[in-house]
Amino acid sequence: MSKKEIKLGFVGLGFIGTIHSIACFSMPLIFKNLPFEVKLGPVYKNNIEDIPHFFEKGVKSIEEMLEEGGLDAVDICTPNYLHYEQAMKVIEKGIPLYLEKPIGVNGKEAYEIMEKAKEKRIIHQTALMYRFMPAVNQARDMIKNGEIGEILNFKALMLHSGYMDPKRPMSWKMKKATSGGGAIVDMGIHLVDAVRFMMGEIKSLRSNSKTYFKKRPVSKGSEIYEEVDVDDWTNVEVEMKNGGWGSIEASRISADLEEETRFEIYGTKGSIKISTKHPRYAVLYKKQENVQIIGDYDTKSKFSEYVESIYPTEKYSLGWMVDLHMASLINFFTNIVEDKIVFSETPTFEEAYKDQVILDKILLSAENNGKVISNLKD
Ligand SMILES: NC(=O)c1ccc[n+]([C@@H]2O[C@H](COP(=O)([O-])OP(=O)(O)OC[C@H]3O[C@@H](n4cnc5c(N)ncnc54)[C@H](O)[C@@H]3O)[C@@H](O)[C@H]2O)c1
Repeated sequence: MSKKEIKLGFVGLGFIGTIHSIACFSMPLIFKNLPFEVKLGPVYKNNIEDIPHFFEKGVKSIEEMLEEGGLDAVDICTPNYLHYEQAMKVIEKGIPLYLEKPIGVNGKEAYEIMEKAKEKRIIHQTALMYRFMPAVNQARDMIKNGEIGEILNFKALMLHSGYMDPKRPMSWKMKKATSGGGAIVDMGIHLVDAVRFMMGEIKSLRSNSKTYFKKRPVSKGSEIYEEVDVDDWTNVEVEMKNGGWGSIEASRISADLEEETRFEIYGTKGSIKISTKHPRYAVLYKKQENVQIIGDYDTKSKFSEYVESIYPTEKYSLGWMVDLHMASLINFFTNIVEDKIVFSETPTFEEAYKDQVILDKILLSAENNGKVISNLKD
């Protein structure tokens, strides 16, 4: 089988760009029959002295990268406030785009990026990669198949501890202008997307946020402090269109040995639990039979079957973070080969935009002391 060569340009190569690169590099070692070969192309970032040797080269501007030509796709992994301008340039050139979440700093930016991608008909995707977690897909199937009956309530939690050190210096992630928001935008977007993916649309919401560390040193070790204007922690109470109620909680200040993303979904006939500690299976409890099912769930959707075929097996696992990003990127590259969005479950810019509209309303509610917001349209 001849494989399509996909030369991928990187814009930004910090924390998540590194995760994407590890995924692209390892992909052909783990999956031998992929219909594409990814070549790690040029990298543009604000300092190109330290680009690892297996990338083609470092370039000094996005224009230089795009004008040189020869790229089959671009992966944008820069701070959120740069996404809009950079994404528009890539889309204008008609190049397939993988754009990190959130795709813009607010719903307005996300809308314009989505519209431009539609106009230019490019293959595009964002890294809302929980859609590629086998456990999330099993839960989605279980809910669709009525295993837990009607959903009564749920919890969606993403609990990190990285911001607990008061001396952690200021960064673009702690300023609204550069990030769009704190924990709820950075991490909560994954929860909002996964909740919508598994359980359908949100009808109304109210939220509360806290910023525990209101000032941060301007740089490591500095005695000069700067104000933080985003949340460290946000809790959102949501009402779903299907009648269930739930909470979505994103935290950067929850001390625990391991960071975890967790979902607990309770219905009239049972419950489902998911944790990043066990990304390959959801735990189903059936009340009437009083049984707990852990492991492969065999009434699968086509997308579930597909996800299980592109998610690394336990023995090849590089950790759930790289594994999830690898599956998500495989989906993007496959869509480029097919020149269409093969599975409608793909996290397109349209899905990212819908999530971002919800985030805008969450921020609005928090700014208004937890006011209930029921108009969730843009
Ligand atoms: N999907 C996920 O799981 C996930 C996880 C973490 C971050 N992210 C997203 O990835 C993006 C990047 O986050 P990160 O944690 O990697 O941030 P980071 O600060 O670690 O990396 C940012 C990168 O952008 C580069 N950069 C900064 N300013 C630039 C400029 N003006 N021009 C060009 N390059 C510039 C930096 O050199 C660095 O390489 C954000 O959108 C974030 O929300 C997604």
